[in-house]
Amino acid sequence: MSEALLKLEDVHTHIGAYHILHGVDLQVPKGQLTMLLGRNGAGKSTTLRTIMGLWHASQGRIRFAGRDITAFSTPQIADLGIAYVPETMGIFADLTVKENMLLAARSAKRAQDMDEARLKWIFRLFPAVEKFWNHPAGKLSGGQKQMLAVSRAIVEPRELLIIDEPSKGLAPAIINNLIDAFAELKASGVTILLVEQNIHFAQRLGDTVAVMDNGRIVHAGSMAEFSADAQLQQRLLGLAL
Ligand SMILES: Nc1ncnc2c1ncn2[C@@H]1O[C@H](COP(=O)(O)OP(=O)(O)OP(=O)(O)O)[C@@H](O)[C@H]1O
Ligand SMILES: [Mg+2]
Repeated sequence: MSEALLKLEDVHTHIGAYHILHGVDLQVPKGQLTMLLGRNGAGKSTTLRTIMGLWHASQGRIRFAGRDITAFSTPQIADLGIAYVPETMGIFADLTVKENMLLAARSAKRAQDMDEARLKWIFRLFPAVEKFWNHPAGKLSGGQKQMLAVSRAIVEPRELLIIDEPSKGLAPAIINNLIDAFAELKASGVTILLVEQNIHFAQRLGDTVAVMDNGRIVHAGSMAEFSADAQLQQRLLGLAL
C-alpha cells in the first residue's frame, strides 16, 4: 500500500454527553480513492466532521502529510488543501451557481479571477454547472446540486477531497455521471475519501475500503478483495446479495 496522506490513530469523539467514535484507525493512501462504508449510524459522518475539525477528537491523533492536525481549526485544515462536501452539500440556495463557486474559491475575489482552464474542466465534468451559471442554486435538481457541491470542492487544486454520500437520493443515470467524474478526478492525482452507502458505486470507484461499525473501523483493505467476498460484505454491511 502506498504512503498514507491522512492517518487517524485511535480517534475518539464525544458529542455532548455521547461517546460516538471509539478509537478510529484509518489510513487514506495518497493518490487513491478510499471508500468509507458502514451501516446507518456507524459513525461515518462523525469521522469526516472530526477530520475537518467540526468536532474535536477527545483522544487520539489525526495526521495529514505527516503533520499533526488534531487540534487545528476548520479554516486551518481547509488551508492545507483539504476540501469537504457535507451530507447537506453546503450550497447557498439564494445565491447563483456562479456566486456559490466564487465563495468556494479562496484565492478569487471576482468571477474573472477564477482559473479559467479549471472552470472549463469543471464545466466538462458537470455541464449543469455551466448551464445554470447565473441561476439561483436553490432551483437546481438534487443531482445538479450534488454536482455543484463537488464543483465547489474542486474549484481550486486540492490535496484531499472528503465527500459524504454523494450518491444519496440520486437516480442511477446521475450516479453513473458522478462515477465518471470521480474516476476522472482520481486520474488527475487527487486523493479522495468518500462515504458511500451504494455498494455498486463503492465497488466501481474504490481502491481501498474501510468499514465502520459502532464508532470503530472493523475492516480495512483493498476494494478488489472486499468486492470478491460476499460473505464479508453480508457480515459487515448486512447486504443481502
Ligand atoms: N449532533 C449529534 N448529537 C448527538 N448524537 C449524534 C449527533 N450526530 C451524530 N450523532 C450520533 O452519532 C452516531 C453516528 O452518527 P453519524 O452521523 O456519524 O453516522 P453515519 O455513519 O454517518 O450514518 P448515516 O449512514 O445514517 O449517515 C449516531 O448514533 C448518531 O445518532
Ligand atoms: Mg452520515
